[in-house]
Amino acid sequence: MNVPFVDLHAQYIGIKGEIDEAIASVIRESAFIRSKFVTDFEQQFAAAVGVKHCVSCANGTDAIYILMQGLGIKPGDEVITTAHSWISTSETITQAGGKVVFCDTDAETFTIDPAQIESKITPRTVGIIPVHLYGQPADMDPILEIAKRRGLWVIEDCAQAHMAEYKGRKVGTMGVAASFSFYPGKNLGAMGDAGALVTNDSKLAEWCELYARHGGKGEHKIEGINSRLDGLQAAILSVKLPHLGRWTEGRRRVAAQYDALFAPHAAVRTPEIARDRTHVYHLYVIRSENRDALQQHLNKAGISTMLNYSKALPFYPAYARLNHSPADFPNAFHNQSRILSIPIYPEMTEEMVQDVATAVIAGVVE
Ligand SMILES: Cc1ncc(COP(=O)(O)O)c(C=O)c1O
Repeated sequence: MNVPFVDLHAQYIGIKGEIDEAIASVIRESAFIRSKFVTDFEQQFAAAVGVKHCVSCANGTDAIYILMQGLGIKPGDEVITTAHSWISTSETITQAGGKVVFCDTDAETFTIDPAQIESKITPRTVGIIPVHLYGQPADMDPILEIAKRRGLWVIEDCAQAHMAEYKGRKVGTMGVAASFSFYPGKNLGAMGDAGALVTNDSKLAEWCELYARHGGKGEHKIEGINSRLDGLQAAILSVKLPHLGRWTEGRRRVAAQYDALFAPHAAVRTPEIARDRTHVYHLYVIRSENRDALQQHLNKAGISTMLNYSKALPFYPAYARLNHSPADFPNAFHNQSRILSIPIYPEMTEEMVQDVATAVIAGVVE
């Protein structure tokens, strides 16, 4: 059986009536930019996360960038972030005028290793951006403790972890602010690019709103940028938000089935979840010693896989200027050649999960 990596059409079919009606409403009202569809979604999403403010924007990358501007980053300020993530997390630091300082990941959870953060702090450090990678929260308490003691801000990058929890607290509620992506394949995805930032800091929210809308309509109080969530995407996200809990349960069902099927096979290393966290399985990332051959084997069997990410950020040409070597980030370096993301989405049937698992087991070297 062919198994795609995600199946957005299957999701659409499940809620087609609601989505079609929402799109038709936006078109009927020509509510394409700044409309009640946008403000409604902002309120609904803030309530779902449990924060005071949500400022929507064009994508999750902009959300991180806008937040750093709002926090007053200055040229040469250093920001510490994880070595293994999507490049949005680090490229925005540079775009905002800051200097990227990478920190290695925890060997098992793939998220930033708090024990290594302190050694990266210099007098120029202003903030830390942990990423809740693959859908599992980073170890936030020690990060927040260091940040508080050293006077740093923390922006949570929640692009992959909508509604995941750390010690009973939702991601997005722990740092001074947080960014979300609603890229179509995300756990809560639009039908195009979309993103948002959330915060309990009213002044920060107000500034970010102003900045993302050309510094204010009519009266331009500051120079800003144009980063908007459009009405169609907002209406689609409002339809999808109430389904997110059910979809997350679907992802957990798939993950639990994989976990059980892989349990007797030590050569397939399944995701480890820290005891104090919940995982929302944006990705189900296994590790194997023969990753490349396994990926080819699955490809031949009609099973789509991805590498998230085949190189840790410091090892891309984009960061050659930092002159890093594998010894600087041993955990991220070790994992980058072993990780393999296999299909996970709520609409996967038990048979599909079984087929993927059977193919994986046949393809690993025991
Ligand atoms: C960890 C992480 N941060 C940030 C982003 C940026 O989101 P977007 O693609 O909406 O700009 C993504 C999504 O691709 C991501 O996975």
